[in-house]
Amino acid sequence: MRWVRKELWSSSTARRGEARHHRRERYPKRPSRVFRMDRQRKRKRSRSRTAGSAGHIRYNRAVWDRISGWYDCRHACVLGGTSATAWGLFRVPESKLGLLGNTRGKAILELGCGAARWSIALARGGARSTGIDLSSVQLARARELQRESKVRFPLVRASAEQLPLRDGVFDLVFCDWGAMTFADPMRTVPECARVLRPGGKFVFATASPFRYVTFDRAKDRQSRRLLRPYFGSYRIDLGSDAAVEFQLPYGTWIDLFRKNGLTVERLMETRPTPGRQSRYLSRPDAKWGRSWPLETIWKLRKE
Ligand SMILES: C[S@@+](CC[C@H](N)C(=O)[O-])C[C@H]1O[C@@H](n2cnc3c(N)ncnc32)[C@H](O)[C@@H]1O
Repeated sequence: MRWVRKELWSSSTARRGEARHHRRERYPKRPSRVFRMDRQRKRKRSRSRTAGSAGHIRYNRAVWDRISGWYDCRHACVLGGTSATAWGLFRVPESKLGLLGNTRGKAILELGCGAARWSIALARGGARSTGIDLSSVQLARARELQRESKVRFPLVRASAEQLPLRDGVFDLVFCDWGAMTFADPMRTVPECARVLRPGGKFVFATASPFRYVTFDRAKDRQSRRLLRPYFGSYRIDLGSDAAVEFQLPYGTWIDLFRKNGLTVERLMETRPTPGRQSRYLSRPDAKWGRSWPLETIWKLRKE
């Protein structure tokens, strides 16, 4: 851990902040409150949801703090064990895709690491992992898993939109439906480019634009119709208890990468094999994914 303190963190303020959050973190005692909200909290929530950039960060932190226990129980079976290093909605193994390359000895940052199963598995294989997440409850779970697995590396509570880390110190920045889904890419992409070394890789899995333009909010499923505009898609409110998400048209993603010195090496649109189910999707939505891309995995290189 010490090498990160010395080399990575950009200021003593960040160090003090992390120590404070370490003390505060607790695993939630009342996970049953996940989906219940009284009227006053709902009003407060919709106010903070609309209060600009700080608004979506505060709102998403509250969502993730609230649903973390539920999320971890529901998905642990597809996030842990041999699936710890697998991608996306259909948990395609990294050993099959080879997107990260050889990670042994590499300085790696996971953005929105959640319970940090990916980072723990990579650290076991000799990577020098660092995990960042917005939610202290998610990070508390990550610390539990670190203790169980006896693997230690820095876990930092911060937003990927403002990384408390030095320039050019990472060989690889990645996330699997982490902060690149829930944070503003106009802020996260420049931050990732900043902390990467020249030649470093940035790999992330998130939703595809198709998922949003065809998502039927009332039926809570994918449709075969274009229900919202593609151009101008940016900040997405999927309603009720969902966290705010972000998405861009493909051309805007590519312009943003180029502007920040990132070259696209690969764009994968994952397609499930026939009959393949997903823990994250209804059966019809998983089937929908055979015809249209539900998710994208970008692989980029810092020039
Ligand atoms: C769907 S979970 C994925 C976590 C992990 N990749 C996994 O598969 O278990 C999304 C994570 O992103 C985190 N997150 C959301 N917005 C973030 C932000 N702005 N900065 C850092 N983390 C963020 C959430 O707290 C949550 O832990």
